[in-house]
Amino acid sequence: MDYRKLLADIVILQDVDSSEIEPLIVRPKDPSMGDWCLPCFKFAGKFRKSPAELAKDVVSRIGAYNFLEKAEAVGPYVNFTLDKKTVAREVLDRALGEGGNYGGSEEGSGKTVCIDYSSVNIAKPFHMGHMLNTSIGAALYRIYGALGYNVVGINHLGDWGTQFGKLIVAYKKWGDREDIESKGVRGLLDIYVRFHSEAEKDPSLDDEARAWFKKIEDGDSEARALFLWFKEITLKEVGKVYDRLGVKFDSYAGESFYNDKMKPVLEELERDGLIEESDGAKIVRFENDKYPPCLLVRSDGATLYATRDLAAAIYRKNTYDFYKCLYVVAYQQNLHFMQLFEVLRMMKKPWADDMVHVAHGMVSLEDGALSTRSGHVVFLEDVLDTAVAKALEIIDRKSPDLANKRETAEAVGVGAVIFGMLYNGRIKDVTFSYDKVLNFDGETGPYVQYTYARCKSLIDKCPREGESEDLSGIADAEGHALVSLIGDYPDAVKLAAEKYEPSIVARHVMDVAQAFNKFYLGHNIAGAEPAVKNARLSLVAATMTVIENGLRLLGIRTPEKM
Ligand code: ARG
Repeated sequence: MDYRKLLADIVILQDVDSSEIEPLIVRPKDPSMGDWCLPCFKFAGKFRKSPAELAKDVVSRIGAYNFLEKAEAVGPYVNFTLDKKTVAREVLDRALGEGGNYGGSEEGSGKTVCIDYSSVNIAKPFHMGHMLNTSIGAALYRIYGALGYNVVGINHLGDWGTQFGKLIVAYKKWGDREDIESKGVRGLLDIYVRFHSEAEKDPSLDDEARAWFKKIEDGDSEARALFLWFKEITLKEVGKVYDRLGVKFDSYAGESFYNDKMKPVLEELERDGLIEESDGAKIVRFENDKYPPCLLVRSDGATLYATRDLAAAIYRKNTYDFYKCLYVVAYQQNLHFMQLFEVLRMMKKPWADDMVHVAHGMVSLEDGALSTRSGHVVFLEDVLDTAVAKALEIIDRKSPDLANKRETAEAVGVGAVIFGMLYNGRIKDVTFSYDKVLNFDGETGPYVQYTYARCKSLIDKCPREGESEDLSGIADAEGHALVSLIGDYPDAVKLAAEKYEPSIVARHVMDVAQAFNKFYLGHNIAGAEPAVKNARLSLVAATMTVIENGLRLLGIRTPEKM
């Protein structure tokens, strides 16, 4: 039930449509003030009254309704207190009735959203710095999916550039096929690093590298075979991590995919008179130089990252006819995306405004940065392994007799890392700490998972008796707070999509877990009389529904025992 809509409908203000009132209705900061409140500032002028007078007026015209316990004017606000049992019945029926679909909808039906995320670079390590990106993108993928959108997950691989020439030179000089096969990306990284140190002494290596890259471009069979092999090695390794994270893509069309798709775009730009030659290079200048010019073709004829992204945007529109195209990419690339979207606007693409850069912050480890350049590379796989090992230690201590401890530790350890990435607003930088994300009593994934397991064991240990439910058993402050949060969950999912912000779901699930634990502390469930017990068990089950659905959207599993 949409109570805001319902309340907006029962507020009678002459010549004001309820659709104007609805957005003003909010949750009061202090729950003792009621469930919802309507601030009366906006329309006070229109009725030549003070907001406080208007609030009184509004209240005097509100009739009696079953779902409404009372409406009161408090200063400039109208505070609404709903009937707790009515809300409880409605929320429980909805959450339990919809089960695994609760929080989802069909609002996106018929619309396609492309989400470009993770977008790893071939032959470069998949390191901890990619975790924020991958978690946010994958969560948005699932959130939009739950809202009925057709989602296309795109891994825009960084699989083009002179570094592949360097890798070929390095491989031919110092590489060993078996060694690299067994070491994977680490093996490629080793020879790549060696190339750089040797090239400092012998710059002719750079010329060799350029020549090999040219061979890749020209389709030389040896060069291409090596290029594809590097790609295969990287994707195999990255794929293992994606599997652990429960992440998937519908397309791996990366930068090299656009090799033959840039020419028509450049021609279109020429036709539109948008290209300018500058020292042999092709650039697009912006009105009033509001951004630096966008370089599309270098003087040596090479195309750039931006050229590929331009071709990719047009290809995606033609292929998927998206409603929105999201780019989950760190904020360092803000300028790149501003330029890209502006060029599309200048090309008069009506869909240019459907492109969204979902910018996010950076990850660092407590003991230092994670940049490749400083040589301090922390492989994501190692972080996951460490988190799982630490989770296993904790589980060993807490529940030594648990069956399938390893599997549980995997769900808890990996879940802890994901939750740690998604709990804060995406634009924030994250300082990652194992102890912080694995703290079972903190605002963490394991805390929420543990709450879920606690609910599950309650349900298992304490069977229902009979059919009747006495909702007064969950109609006090704590019960009602939990019911309200469960009822608000679908709004949180919707808002998370609107704002491209999975943290809204993570926060909501945390609020539900905390509210449940408060309720659980203050209420006897097993020993309550049957009708009260049944009502409480329904609330426990609805709590599980929200935690399970919410964590699933974030990519986190919910073990039944911990
Ligand atoms: N591979 C790029 C990087 O690591 C990210 C690509 C993002 N997607 C895009 N369409 N530009 O920086």
